[in-house]
Amino acid sequence: MQEKTVTGFSKLSKLGKIRWVAENFFSSPRQVVEELKSFWHEDEDQQRVLDAFSENTLSNFYLPYGVAPNFVINGRVYTVPMVIEESSVVAAASSAAKFWMSRGGFHAQVLSTKKLGQVHFSWEGDIQLLRDRFKELEQRLRRDAAPITANMEKRGGGILDIELLDMSLLEPNYHQLKVSFETCDSMGANFINSVLEEFGNSLQLFVEEHIDEDKPLEIIMAILSNFTPECLVRAWVECPVEELGNVCEGMEPAIFAEKFAKAVRIARIDPYRATTHNKGIFNGIDAVVLATGNDFRAIEAGGHTYAARDGQYRSLSSCEIKNDIFKFWIDIPLALGTVGGLTKLHPIARRSLELLGSPSATELMEVIAVTGLAQNFAAVRSLVTTGIQKGHMKMHLKNILNHLGATVGEMEDVIEHFEDRVVSFKAVREYLDLLRSGGLTYTAK
Ligand code: MEV
Repeated sequence: MQEKTVTGFSKLSKLGKIRWVAENFFSSPRQVVEELKSFWHEDEDQQRVLDAFSENTLSNFYLPYGVAPNFVINGRVYTVPMVIEESSVVAAASSAAKFWMSRGGFHAQVLSTKKLGQVHFSWEGDIQLLRDRFKELEQRLRRDAAPITANMEKRGGGILDIELLDMSLLEPNYHQLKVSFETCDSMGANFINSVLEEFGNSLQLFVEEHIDEDKPLEIIMAILSNFTPECLVRAWVECPVEELGNVCEGMEPAIFAEKFAKAVRIARIDPYRATTHNKGIFNGIDAVVLATGNDFRAIEAGGHTYAARDGQYRSLSSCEIKNDIFKFWIDIPLALGTVGGLTKLHPIARRSLELLGSPSATELMEVIAVTGLAQNFAAVRSLVTTGIQKGHMKMHLKNILNHLGATVGEMEDVIEHFEDRVVSFKAVREYLDLLRSGGLTYTAK
């Protein structure tokens, strides 16, 4: 295909953009234009809101929005909204929620809520001179940023600590202001970045005016960190081993518990397994983060760094069997917001928060950590008992049928047929071929 470039694309109307893309990259441009238009929101105002979330918007990309009911968390029942494109994730979360509902439910506790940001700078001067006047510098930084922090302070948040770090052993002349923040119910990215950029300006002026005007300080960058190990939540489940019951036919609860704990230990010691184990956790976490209009890339990045905090990438969850009590838990940093960002702008994110009872950011941290743990419990439970394919392929069956262009009637028939059979793409296609060739009696009404 010939490579295409364009100038002034962002200035084109939405239809103009669609046409350019359709005409330059597709063999059936008219059909593509109609297809993309068909996913526009019928309400123009709503569409305008959605378009404003990004740039060069052509259409909307749909993903399923589902719910997992029966989550008992700290004694309260939640129906958890989830946006996910993978079959069996919502079913798994729901099944884990139901399982733990009769075993004391889930527990969760926010351990800390600090967010972090950094001003990275280069300075050839003697860092000790800056250290000696750090109290003065700190006052100046706080004073200059006061117009930005005033509102957040009224809400109970603001700047917490400011530290000066000498990083010059790692990179010549490189230093840092490391700043911690409390951002209450907002994720706080814009607030933090605005404060940090202001700090950068003030720092530069302070050095010029009070320390050494001949050695100018260069701001390399000022930005929040998505690694927030002190914005941490713990979620856990526990019950006597006996109460785990008959998780899998023919497997004693004690055997199940030991096998489960071993599987979690393997994910602690082996990064290959840890990655997949944590991917399962993020199946649940990302789904709720998305459904509530939060930033799943930030959550993923921070979570994975936390998983590697001792130098090796490890499982985010842990399991222990002590005095015949089975305990399974997760500690995870989650920098979330329930105000600001898309949380109130995205029409469905707004409904998700309402569905959760309009939680504070800390309550949302608890719900999301629990959903990750539930997802992990369901995945590891399947892995150490039946294997995941049995359940997964059952849930995936409708995708296979859609892929094969099955009618509603054929779907009903095939789903019934595979009720107690192993699903595979080949088996479904063969059965459907047989059905279509008249080799089978068509049973659906
Ligand atoms: C699939 O999306 C997630 C799992 O692979 C997670 C795991 O292996 O623990 C089932």
